[in-house]
Amino acid sequence: MNAFRSRIVHVIETAPLDWVYFEDGVLLVQDGIVRDIGPAERFEKEGFDLSQCDWRPNDLLIPGFIDTHVHSPQIDVIASWSPRLLDWLDRYTFPAELKFADEAYATAAADDFINGLLAAGTTTAMVFVTSFLAATDALFEAARMRGMRLIAGKVLMDQNVPAALCDTAQQGVDDSRYLIEKWHGKDRLGYAVSPRFAISSSRAQLRAAGDLFREFPGTWIQTHLSEDREEIARVREVHPYARDYLDVYEQNGLVNDRAVFGHGLYLSDSELERLATAGGKLAFCPSSNLFLGSGLLDMERIRSAGVDISIATDVGGGTGLSMLKTLGDAYKVCQLRGYSLEAMDAFAMATLGNARAMGLDSCIGNLEPGKEADFIFLSPPDGSILGRRLDLCLSVEEELFVYMMLGDEGVISETFVGGRTMKRIR
Ligand code: GUN
Ligand code: ZN
Repeated sequence: MNAFRSRIVHVIETAPLDWVYFEDGVLLVQDGIVRDIGPAERFEKEGFDLSQCDWRPNDLLIPGFIDTHVHSPQIDVIASWSPRLLDWLDRYTFPAELKFADEAYATAAADDFINGLLAAGTTTAMVFVTSFLAATDALFEAARMRGMRLIAGKVLMDQNVPAALCDTAQQGVDDSRYLIEKWHGKDRLGYAVSPRFAISSSRAQLRAAGDLFREFPGTWIQTHLSEDREEIARVREVHPYARDYLDVYEQNGLVNDRAVFGHGLYLSDSELERLATAGGKLAFCPSSNLFLGSGLLDMERIRSAGVDISIATDVGGGTGLSMLKTLGDAYKVCQLRGYSLEAMDAFAMATLGNARAMGLDSCIGNLEPGKEADFIFLSPPDGSILGRRLDLCLSVEEELFVYMMLGDEGVISETFVGGRTMKRIR
């Protein structure tokens, strides 16, 4: 049994939003699972010896972050100048993903990617790898070794990308099936059937992806949807039979409550309504949308349409793996849309909300007893302006707001996965 004593905050309900803060809290972890959480005073009254706690009175202990949309090979293309999405894919992303045909390269990069997530305080992610089976294997292995809960998939793409990145509808299914049988449900791992986006998959491949998902009902689906105006126009040319972007996926059995769609910036009222009815989720990727100039998501409109919205980095369109920076960018995007995102709402999205979007809230997302012990400590670097600003905070909401506006990897002082430390900076 491990005991941690700190200031602790976690979200216990997303709608309506509800959270708990312990100014002096204790978290008990046994065999990778949260056994108990509460005020130190209660533990003391119950005869618990508080001196055995790992005590960090000034830190803030919170659940590990969850990233619902990120590309592991794209750690190599973060910060690559480009006017727009399609140009950026052609110029940097596809060439970078081609390097992942080399197994040794892919294995080293998988390690760096997972370490990057953990350094940023992200303990679970839904990850696009690339089209190579061995590269996908390497990523699952890197997560398994660390006991992480991770969902990932080999990217399906059989057209409109460089030939060496293309699979075929059949090869894509064969490779995905192999990976599902090997990894889905093993330890804390899960598989997402991953057609990249409508432009890079033929109708036959999208249909095969939908069929594959139905063959393995516990899996997930991840793809991109309505991210950029030029992209949407191209989808119309590539799939002329469809009435709109969402319909490309609907016609192929890819829209349901296990599907997470990146972006969704330009969805029509009809698409939103159909997405809400089917229970499909969106991943809001503010850093990526700003960096690629894709647009400003109208989160209020999406929420009022009844569509579940998660939040994600979308590295390498996104400019880093830090969910704190992503929340800061989300705030700024919402400001420009006339909506001021509250810190606790943002923080709820990056933890319990994202867990809900992936159907994983019975295992992760907060620190209720019985959940998996994925958590992090936040603390400012010594002598930092951030530290000075935090000292002036009058509430934990204000503190979280300051962290999301000023924080990054540098404030994650330790990351725990299944109760085991993965990284300690200070
Ligand atoms: N659409 C298709 N592929 C990608 C990708 O790798 N990143 C982003 N942001 N959008 C995409
Ligand atoms: Zn993406």
